[in-house]
Amino acid sequence: MAYAGLQDFIKRLDNSGELRRIGIEVDPYLEIAAIADRVMKSPGGGAGLLFEHVKGSEFPVAINLFGSRKRMSWALGVDDIEEIAREIEGLVKLPGNMPSSIGGMLGLAPKLLPLTSIAPKMVSSGPCQDVVKTGAKASLDEIPILTCWPGDGGPFVTLPLVFTKEAGTGKRNVGMYRIQKYDAHTTGMHWQRHKVGSRHYAEYEALGKDIPVAIVLGGDPALTYAATAPLPDEIDEVLFAGFLRKRPVEMVRCKTIDIEVPADAEFVIEGVVPAGLRRTEGPFGDHTGYYSLADEYPVFNVTAITHRKKPVYPATLVGPPPMEDHWLGKATERIFFPLIRMVLPEIIDYNLPVEGAFHNLALVRIRKRYPGHAQKVMNAIWGLGQMMFTKCIVVVDEDVDVQNPAEVVWRALANIDPHRDITFVNGPVDVLDHASPRMAFGSKMGIDATRKLPEEGFDREWPEILATSPDVAKRVDVIWSKLGL
Ligand SMILES: Cc1cc2nc3c(=O)[nH]c(=O)nc-3n(C[C@H](O)[C@H](O)[C@H](O)COP(=O)(O)O)c2cc1C
Repeated sequence: MAYAGLQDFIKRLDNSGELRRIGIEVDPYLEIAAIADRVMKSPGGGAGLLFEHVKGSEFPVAINLFGSRKRMSWALGVDDIEEIAREIEGLVKLPGNMPSSIGGMLGLAPKLLPLTSIAPKMVSSGPCQDVVKTGAKASLDEIPILTCWPGDGGPFVTLPLVFTKEAGTGKRNVGMYRIQKYDAHTTGMHWQRHKVGSRHYAEYEALGKDIPVAIVLGGDPALTYAATAPLPDEIDEVLFAGFLRKRPVEMVRCKTIDIEVPADAEFVIEGVVPAGLRRTEGPFGDHTGYYSLADEYPVFNVTAITHRKKPVYPATLVGPPPMEDHWLGKATERIFFPLIRMVLPEIIDYNLPVEGAFHNLALVRIRKRYPGHAQKVMNAIWGLGQMMFTKCIVVVDEDVDVQNPAEVVWRALANIDPHRDITFVNGPVDVLDHASPRMAFGSKMGIDATRKLPEEGFDREWPEILATSPDVAKRVDVIWSKLGL
C-alpha cells in the first residue's frame, strides 16, 4: 500500500484510533520531547501524537508515528513487518536467484518486479513546492524544530531524509542524519564517517567542490524508513521505497540545486555544504540514552525552503530506550533477516533487544555443526555492513529462544566458561559509542554460549536440561482443573 505522503498516513492512524491530537499550546523547547518520552515509554509504545498548536510556529508537529509494531508495519503498507521479510525470502528462493551478496539480492528486485512499478518517476510539479522561499526569506525559524534534552547544543531536526549525489556518477543516497539548527539559515550535518553521505561529501571535498544537499521532511513513510535502512551503497533508497510501497516514488527537481526530491514531501530544505568547513556539532541526547559528545562536522547553508500549503513537521525523539526508533530498528532486523540468512543460513533467528540500542547487543540462535561454528558466525556478523558495529554478540544453540532475552541470560550464563568462550576483537565501532578508548575504533565481544564439542577441548559430560517427563505432563494436564490451583 502506498500513501500520498505523510498526512495520508496520519489520516489512516487517526481513523484507526492510533493518533492523539493535542490541542493545547506546547513548546518545541523541551516540552514536546518530555511529553513524547512518556508516551513512547508507555506499554506497546503509546499512540502517535499530533501537536496542533506549537509555540512560535504555525505548523503542527507529528511524533511517534512509527512508535509501535503495528504503526511501523502500517507505515510500510503491511499488517506486519514479517510480510515483507517473507516476500524478500520468496525472491531469494526463486530458482536461479541466488546472488552471492545482499547487494546482489536487493539489486534483483528491479529485475523481478517491473521497473516501471517501483523505479522513481520524475514529475513536473508536486505539493512539496506549493510554497517556495529562497534567499533570506528561506528561514528555519518558521519550522518548529525541537530541542529535545536540556544539555543539547540547540534544536535538532530529528527525522530528516538527507539527499545527496555521488560526484561523477550522480548516484543518489538518502540517509537519516540529524540536523542541528545553528541559526535561521545554517545547520550542522551529522554525517558519521562510516555513512554514505560522509563519503559523498569527502569525494566532493577532494575535488574542491561544495556539495548540494536536500533535507526532506515527510513523504511516504516507507521512504522515511528506507533512509534509516542499512542498504548497500549501490541500492537507491528511493527505489527500495518503491519496492516497499509497490508504486514509484514521484520526484520533482529542487528549485535551487541539482537534486530530485519526493513530490509529496511536507518540507524540503535545499542548500549546499561547503568544502573545507567544519563547526562544532552537539552535544545531543542520543539513542544510546547518553549525550553524544560535541565534535566537528560539516556545515549546511540553506538556499531555499519549499513546503506544502499546510505542512506537518515530522519529528522523533531518541533517548534512553524504549523510544520510537526501536521500531525502525526492529523493521530492519526483520526485513534484513532473509538477506543475512543468504550468507549465514545456519542462523535460525536473531534479536537486537531494545535495551541494546541497535548496536550494543545481538542474540543469535544457530544450528551448530562444527567446532568454532559460533566464532565463524560472530566474525561474519562483524563483517556485514552496519552489523560491524555490534558491540556484543551472544551465540546460542538452536533450542534457545532468542526472542526471550531472559531465557538467553539463563542458558548463556549456565553454558559459558568465560575464559574459554569469550572472544574479543578490535575494529570499527559506532561513532556514538562513548566508551571506546578512541572515537569509532575499539573492541567488540563475542560470547559463545553453545554446547561445547570434544573438538573444542570439552571432554566432560554435558548435562541435559530439566523437563518433566511427557507422560507425567499429560496426566497433570488432565487433572489440572481438579487441583483447585
Ligand atoms: C532517528 C535516527 C537518527 C539517526 N541519526 C544519524 C546521524 O545523525 N548520523 C548518522 O550518520 N546516522 C544516523 N542515523 C543512522 C543512519 O540513518 C543509518 O545508519 C542509515 O543506514 C545511513 O544510511 P547510509 O548507509 O545511506 O549512510 C540515524 C538513524 C535514525 C533512525
